Amino acid sequence: MSDSVDKPWGGRFASANDALMERFNASIRFDRRLLSADIEGNTAYAHGLQRIGVLSEEECARIVEGLQQVEREFSDPDYPLPDALEDIHMAVERRLTEIVGSSGGKIHTGRSRNDQVNLDERLYLRKEIASLRERIVALQTLLLDSAERHVQVVLPGYTHLQQAQPILFAHYALSLFWMLERDGGRLADAWKRADYMPLGSGALAGSTFPIDREFLRDELGFAAITPNSLDAVSDRDFLVETLSALSILMMHLSRFCEDLIVWSSAEFGFVELSDAFSTGSSMMPQKKNPDSLELIRGKTGRVYGDLIALLTTMKGAPLTYSKDMQEDKEPLFDALDTATICLDVFGGAWAGMTLNAERMESVVDPGALATDLADYLVGKGLPFRDAHHVVGALVRSALSANKSLTELTLEELQDASPHFSEDTLKLLNVRSSLALRNIQGGTGPEAVRAQLAEARALLAQ
Ligand code: ARG
Repeated sequence: MSDSVDKPWGGRFASANDALMERFNASIRFDRRLLSADIEGNTAYAHGLQRIGVLSEEECARIVEGLQQVEREFSDPDYPLPDALEDIHMAVERRLTEIVGSSGGKIHTGRSRNDQVNLDERLYLRKEIASLRERIVALQTLLLDSAERHVQVVLPGYTHLQQAQPILFAHYALSLFWMLERDGGRLADAWKRADYMPLGSGALAGSTFPIDREFLRDELGFAAITPNSLDAVSDRDFLVETLSALSILMMHLSRFCEDLIVWSSAEFGFVELSDAFSTGSSMMPQKKNPDSLELIRGKTGRVYGDLIALLTTMKGAPLTYSKDMQEDKEPLFDALDTATICLDVFGGAWAGMTLNAERMESVVDPGALATDLADYLVGKGLPFRDAHHVVGALVRSALSANKSLTELTLEELQDASPHFSEDTLKLLNVRSSLALRNIQGGTGPEAVRAQLAEARALLAQ
């Protein structure tokens, strides 16, 4: 061994890596985040090796204890893990062997870093997905509470960022609730396809040792074992799916940020963000900027970038494992960190925001009631398309008379259609407009109450 290189793979090498190559090749700076997963996987694997007689009971016990020591030591962020160690898997094995002696060298029997890293990523992801889903539920709870608290608040609803029809603020808040419900579902779904135990796949072709894969599956709490070793070590779909779910989640947050940024402008004045989630200008003393929301909107692009980076890395990687795939970790960690903090910041900004309910309702353009007028005529027997024309013409004549739709007299209405009568005028206000929309899933107050109850029941499950 004296003339070989001091690496677990060094036997075949007569001379060391270039220092540049060593730095380039190392993933330990970022994959130390897989430490607990690697310890968990190693611990189960040690028991698996004992089962098939590769490790004695004592060896296994010492290894398991040694692994705990390694975890304690490496958990200290100041514990030096130099690039020479290459990655977390080799660092753990090396330190373990220092602690327990030569039996440490048996832990990699029948295993490759290819199935090991795949396992670690699954174990790591399981925890991350669980914690993201908790955060999503926390934000859903916040939205639901605020929808219930502001259940009377009315504001203009927009399409094309033009006033369209009046809506309840609670309806608006709940729309994000349902988006988040799908986001949580997508993450749970990504996990379903990650929930396979890959050990026993070896480098690519399986293992010559009779590793009890079902035992390992059970030890590690997976639903099933991977059915094909080539696919197992090549598979990063679960990461791609997670990044895709996070991209969609970020897209949702970003759209709400966009609304709230616009709504917090002086021109809209619908909401005011708390000082706690705004910042000032270094030059203009009067400024209070919605930076929290702008940053979430900005970081959405970053998470998309993480997804595209991983997809692009994977598209060129021939089966089975190639070192390209080491590039999966930084985008994953970045997207997880970014989505996590964005969920929290969005919650903080939302919770601290004050609504200017009067302003919201007062700016509802009476024109936003035009659909109700057309629907009224339909009730009198007109085909909708004809009714639409009649009301369109009314809107035009109101505009040229410099009046709003609600300022038209009964005579003016009746000029446009003889079907209009006294009760038409009563119809022309925001509250009756909302009450007309008690269809399931609509913005009518009763429908929204039912929706609130449905959302509440869902969270209680
Ligand atoms: N650090 C590597 C990675 O993250 C571990 C797997 C290395 N496997 C190998 N055959 N070189 O992808």
